[in-house]
Amino acid sequence: MNNTAYGLSNISEDDLSGIVAGGTIGKEIFFLREVDSTNIYASKLAQDGMPEGVVVIADCQKKGKGRLNRVWQSPPGKNIYTSIILRPSITPHFAPQLTLTAGVAVAELISQYCPGSVMLKWPNDVQINMRKVCGILTEMRIKRGKIDFIIVGMGININMRKEDFQEEFRESSTSLQEETGNVISRIDFANKIYRTFGKWYETYIDKGFVPIRESWLGYSGILNKNISVHYKNEVHQGRVIGIDEYGALLLFDEENETKRILAGDVSLIGEQ
Ligand code: BTN
Repeated sequence: MNNTAYGLSNISEDDLSGIVAGGTIGKEIFFLREVDSTNIYASKLAQDGMPEGVVVIADCQKKGKGRLNRVWQSPPGKNIYTSIILRPSITPHFAPQLTLTAGVAVAELISQYCPGSVMLKWPNDVQINMRKVCGILTEMRIKRGKIDFIIVGMGININMRKEDFQEEFRESSTSLQEETGNVISRIDFANKIYRTFGKWYETYIDKGFVPIRESWLGYSGILNKNISVHYKNEVHQGRVIGIDEYGALLLFDEENETKRILAGDVSLIGEQ
């Protein structure tokens, strides 16, 4: 099975096909010039039996998927859109742990470019100076009650300029180039992200979720802060006291109760 079997050609050497990763993550790499969504493409590969560690990376996505059915802006020549196939032996309700593992890996790597200004925002945003630089979308297929595969999809804004963002995201989003003032090599970044994610995934498999949670909380700007979480028509407010072993956000609310939050958009309350 190769890229041609799926009717898509490799993109040229001067683009992303210089990626060599080659470790556990990136043992085989599918480079696509254009795709609907790397998550969809990787799911098809996984359904066809591709093993853990195979990755898909595209120069542009026509239907980049964001969380909560949103669209992920995915123009060509600028960013990284990649999806990783995983087949961990865990039960489905632990799958959100992989989203947090990916967040830690991206935050660690981006900190090399922007030391001291990287934060994780629950559940899956990586921010530089409070602006979103990366989103993570984890999807899975369950077979007879067990995980068949998980797809961890990451969209990382590398060389987007402010004016490239759709107006509604211009203030809330950023890119590595905007933050560092330098053009960043996507090939170099992609090689590093597969290695860094591979290292954290290995930690997760060997030692479980505890070291991931610890590191995640270290990067999180919301621990002990008062926040509100909006999800559909619901709003929850409270002080963040942590995340549980299922990746749920734990809020201590005005009624002195601990609430588990499973989805939503977080914002800080007031000036803190
Ligand atoms: C979010 O809403 O924050 C998650 C965005 C995830 C985007 C990435 S880009 C690569 C992969 N393929 C997709 O269609 N989505 C994810």
